[in-house]
Amino acid sequence: MKQKIKIITILLSVPFVVMLVMKTQTATAQTKVETAGQKFKSIKVLNDMPADQMGKVMNMMSASLGVNCAFCHASNDGDYEKEGNEHKDMARKMMTMMFDLNKVNFNGRPEINCNTCHNGRSHPQPSFPLTAAKPAEERPKQPEKKPTVEEILAKYETAMGGAANIAKVTSREIKATRVEPDGKTTEPEEIFQKGSKMAANTTYGKYVVSEVFDGKSAWKTGDSAKIDLKIDETEQIKREAQIFANADLKPVYSKLEFRFLDRIDGRDVYLVLGTLADNSRERLYFDVATGFLIRRTASSPTIMGNHVFQVDYLDHKDFGGVKLPTTIKYAMPQIQWMRKIVDVKNNAAVSDEKFAPAGKK
Ligand code: HEC
Ligand code: HEC
Repeated sequence: MKQKIKIITILLSVPFVVMLVMKTQTATAQTKVETAGQKFKSIKVLNDMPADQMGKVMNMMSASLGVNCAFCHASNDGDYEKEGNEHKDMARKMMTMMFDLNKVNFNGRPEINCNTCHNGRSHPQPSFPLTAAKPAEERPKQPEKKPTVEEILAKYETAMGGAANIAKVTSREIKATRVEPDGKTTEPEEIFQKGSKMAANTTYGKYVVSEVFDGKSAWKTGDSAKIDLKIDETEQIKREAQIFANADLKPVYSKLEFRFLDRIDGRDVYLVLGTLADNSRERLYFDVATGFLIRRTASSPTIMGNHVFQVDYLDHKDFGGVKLPTTIKYAMPQIQWMRKIVDVKNNAAVSDEKFAPAGKK
């Protein structure tokens, strides 16, 4: 098939070829994307939504209302197709209202979502403000001369300890703790790193969840059995491995551009936009004062607007000449956790088996 297209492209005029290619692409897209209506059992509104957005959209709705799944479903971990919950019926009306509002007023752009009105509450506040609203954090005064990406990355490298120190550490064995949102529940983590390879094993009682990037592909397993992931989820396992203890971000992104000076929690930050090979974008925030990368966000589109995954890199400490973040906060709607790095052993003998696919250990 590929061969055929190649031969045709040589023979045919350009615009026709473009049309032809576009046609094949939409045709494959149409046949490939499974809709929620096809995959799930009791769908009345979200019929045409790509099925793989279901988890994200449900989490975005839950976070907007400040509730768990059981607010609308029979339980928090199953029987989602069951009917009879009045909140589920109400949520269907609300989704229809939201889609109509966006269609009629905003050309179908997902400007209004559940959070616009609910703002974290199951019942929106029916009142008007009686005190002056707090002003939003203002963007700082922009620098007269824009910094270049090279300057920002060089400063980051220096902050981490410098190229020479970074190069001295080729592998790491790390002890960490995963902290759940209640701040009390924790699970032990063992992380192995070797070049761009990384494996993180989190132990829940006896159940071990591993996230691995072997330098080429990424995967997740539960007690060595593969867990199905969406493309953006494997992409994030890969990215965390690629940027950990690595100031050389140029090979990671196909394009890096400085956008503007922004502010996070009172700190001035350089916002750098990173474009990836597939044209998706991530935002990288570098602390102006310290030089460190302190935040990264990746967003993926859904029918209710962008789903955002945010990682904060905080509390940098020195481990053998290289400064690493020891508090890493992960956040997406309805799901948050934190990694606390406790101990780092540099240049430990890390066997390649740590990065071997499931079942081959
Ligand atoms: C505010 C209400 C609400 C909350 C909270 C909510 N859901 Fe839903 N969920 C719905 C509605 C409504 C549908 C049906 C959508 C339709 O008819 O198009 C649905 C459908 C589903 C389905 C498809 C079931 C099937 O086979 O038909 C799954 C799976 C699901 N939800 C999972 C979850 C999970 C997991 C959570 C918690 C993270 C959650 N939902 C939270 C309202 C909610
Ligand atoms: C334009 C504003 C607006 C938007 C957008 C909106 N809601 Fe609502 N929602 C309301 C209001 C107002 C109420 C309270 C209605 C009442 O008291 O009768 C409500 C009530 C609800 C309730 C009932 C809560 C209860 O305690 O009984 C649910 C469930 C709900 N909304 C879900 C959603 C979901 C899910 C979305 C996004 C798909 C959404 N809403 C979007 C305004 C909105």
